[in-house]
Amino acid sequence: MLIDLHPEPADMARLVVEGMGRSPKQLPAWLLYDAEGSRLFDAICEQPEYGLTRTETALLEARADAMAAGLGPGVVVEFGAGSARKVSPLLSALGPAAYVALDISADHLAPACRALQARHPDLPVLGICCDYSHLDHLPDHPMLKGQRRLGFYPGSSLGNFDPPGALALLRQFRRLLGPDSRLLIGIDQPKAVERLEAAYNDRAGWSEAFAHNLLTRLNRDLDGDFSAADFRYRAWWDVAQSRIAMALVSQRDQEVRMAGRHWPFRAGEPLITEYSYKYGPAAFLELAAAAGWRGADRWSDPAGDLSLHLLVQADSDDQRSGP
Ligand SMILES: C[S@@+](CC[C@H](N)C(=O)[O-])C[C@H]1O[C@@H](n2cnc3c(N)ncnc32)[C@H](O)[C@@H]1O
Repeated sequence: MLIDLHPEPADMARLVVEGMGRSPKQLPAWLLYDAEGSRLFDAICEQPEYGLTRTETALLEARADAMAAGLGPGVVVEFGAGSARKVSPLLSALGPAAYVALDISADHLAPACRALQARHPDLPVLGICCDYSHLDHLPDHPMLKGQRRLGFYPGSSLGNFDPPGALALLRQFRRLLGPDSRLLIGIDQPKAVERLEAAYNDRAGWSEAFAHNLLTRLNRDLDGDFSAADFRYRAWWDVAQSRIAMALVSQRDQEVRMAGRHWPFRAGEPLITEYSYKYGPAAFLELAAAAGWRGADRWSDPAGDLSLHLLVQADSDDQRSGP
């Protein structure tokens, strides 16, 4: 079952106009995810340079029982579920009342939910196509009624938001999940610059294709006239901001049409396609605390590349997960 709350084309146009007015120009990262973008993202996850998916999946498989014990009973609500594969060990360990997948990528969400349903035939499954950062509340659906909500947000997707945006999103998740909720969230940590830059510049070129697909999407959905050959993909580590910046860099002075307007680009000017902020555990917990979440537990891979944090509402007196 799927509920479609995808932003209307007029909302997309408004967001794009707002992003193109920034300096540097920057579009919402979710625009990268149409059906083709989701397919390309899955290919990135398979690349040898991109260890995040493998490491987080292995950690979930190894520690699912402990994570399930910390989460307790309820409905699992996954934000940005993508292909919804990582959650399977958790669902098997937890046996939740239902699983609800939220994702912006409408055409990818339905098959992802069907495949998950085939792996967990007895589990009630609901897909909601939406922008979770702008959702007022979760739909009033029987699967969600009267159940504790257990948020799951893997993939270090919080890093796509700048720190004020990440703070707002963590508050938004508190609101959407409600009282006595939990949030299990995967956070990638800063590491050697060579590894970070390699991960977002895979040799096979999938990261580049993923970024260029944004231009194809803008041309199709917002009547744009971008030429992919005129924009080169770049990704670099910005140590001061603790983030990878990903951009399409204009190769010449040019003017591009989109959403009924014209936008000038200078040669060398970047269009930021997404950021990926990285947080060490202490920095992340400080951010989470400012949003009203308290760290109850944390699991890390042996190399300390990433963490899965279990958060509880700061004003909750539930001691299920220790201090
Ligand atoms: C980096 S991928 C992670 C996918 C998967 N959770 C994982 O860990 O591999 C981000 C996913 O979130 C979705 N997404 C990104 N921004 C979103 C938003 N604002 N609202 C809903 N879904 C979003 C994308 O479509 C994509 O499937």
